[in-house]
Amino acid sequence: MNIVVIGAQWGDEGKGKIVDYLAADAGLIVRFSGGANAGHTIVLGKEQYALHLVPSGILYPDKITVLGSGMVIDPEALFAELAMLESRGVDWKGRVLISDRAHIVLPRYREMDKQQEATRRKPIGTTGRGIGVAYSVKAARDGIRLADLEDAERLATLEDEDRAFLARYAERLLPMSVDLVAFLRQHRNSWTLFEGAQGALLDIDTGTYPYVSSGMSNASGAAAQGGIGPRAIDKVLGVFKAYTTRVGNGPFPTEFDPDSQGALCSFIRDTGREYGVTTGRPRRCGYLDLVALRYARYANSIDSLVLTHLDVYDTLDEFEACVAYKIRGRVVEDFPTSVRDLNDARPVLRKFRGWKTSLGAARTWDDIPREAREYVAFIEEFAEAPVGIVSVGYERNQTLVRESPWTRS
Ligand code: GDP
Ligand code: IMO
Ligand code: MG
Repeated sequence: MNIVVIGAQWGDEGKGKIVDYLAADAGLIVRFSGGANAGHTIVLGKEQYALHLVPSGILYPDKITVLGSGMVIDPEALFAELAMLESRGVDWKGRVLISDRAHIVLPRYREMDKQQEATRRKPIGTTGRGIGVAYSVKAARDGIRLADLEDAERLATLEDEDRAFLARYAERLLPMSVDLVAFLRQHRNSWTLFEGAQGALLDIDTGTYPYVSSGMSNASGAAAQGGIGPRAIDKVLGVFKAYTTRVGNGPFPTEFDPDSQGALCSFIRDTGREYGVTTGRPRRCGYLDLVALRYARYANSIDSLVLTHLDVYDTLDEFEACVAYKIRGRVVEDFPTSVRDLNDARPVLRKFRGWKTSLGAARTWDDIPREAREYVAFIEEFAEAPVGIVSVGYERNQTLVRESPWTRS
């Protein structure tokens, strides 16, 4: 069975926590997109792990993880991450494989990324990890794939500096290399999780272009870049927060207004620990944008939604969510493509009553108070998809499964 988990907003929805949770029942975990721009957090008791490249199933001792064909891999970042895991007692050897079609991020791409940002009239606010450069080079057909590390003819075409860099890592990378299509054919009876990075609104095609990342972070990415085709995907799960966050620049219709909602913004940021895992930047915060969520649900054929961070609203008397936009006087109910429209969009908000109870100890749906259920029911009706899992804290056990995705429907 193949389950795809993607972010349904602008990233940082809690994909790492959810993939880690679901990985208990999986044999394989394949991360299909992005690179060291991602930061996926997993909390196990007092230990917190920030994963950038390694798939989120790695903390179980028996799971096989694969860095998929759509990923762009910075070997320095990868081996630093693996060393971090090893120093904390995670035995990863033999359990971290890399698709031989994945592309390599060279150190100079990081510099080029920063330089491009510095000269952009309207910077994107990239993570500076060389991601956009790596995907551009890939699209220009000048990229270096893992498989190319064994291709003397290809290596001979490179600049000395790049060749020397690759030579430093080839010996360690090549034993991890795998033909992902063949590997998944051999493991076709395994339960496999496909872990997305970033989110639907940061995807190069479905996102708020040009304020996006450069990879495929929508569900189709799992098919194009995860070693399977679209018809092999059994379910798509879309993870979203009870509110919305965004790091970097670009339109954000429900963003809290610093003058009138500054205190609310600080409250959400501090309670939800909304600081970037990769760059440490404070995340921009706003109410849940249901127009954007419904767009993500349809753009990705999301079968089931995963709601995270519901606990962050525990102490609020009331809160709101966006059900339409007003754009230059016109009411709009579908997520616009134009950045200008998105920038001009004023949210039409609907009020919800708070539950004023701590959800952190809830373990089943029956433990959830009525007001919170009403919020969830409204989301399901609006987004036209069931909320199958609700997360009420960052710990593994703070996860309420209403319907296990591993059951066939
Ligand atoms: P990802 O990039 O989608 O994996 O998400 P990040 O790890 O960047 O950010 C999510 C943050 O929220 C992390 O600090 C998680 O530990 C935390 N988190 C995940 N789920 C929940 C939840 O339900 N409630 C709270 N309060 N925190 C959560
Ligand atoms: P995870 O997987 C949130 C954002 C950056 C920037 C834009 C382009 O943790 O959800 P890039 O460096 O990719 O060229 O930056 O995309 N961005 C993310 N925001 N979560 C992420 O990953 C992100 N990866 C990239 O902040 O706005
Ligand atoms: Mg993140």
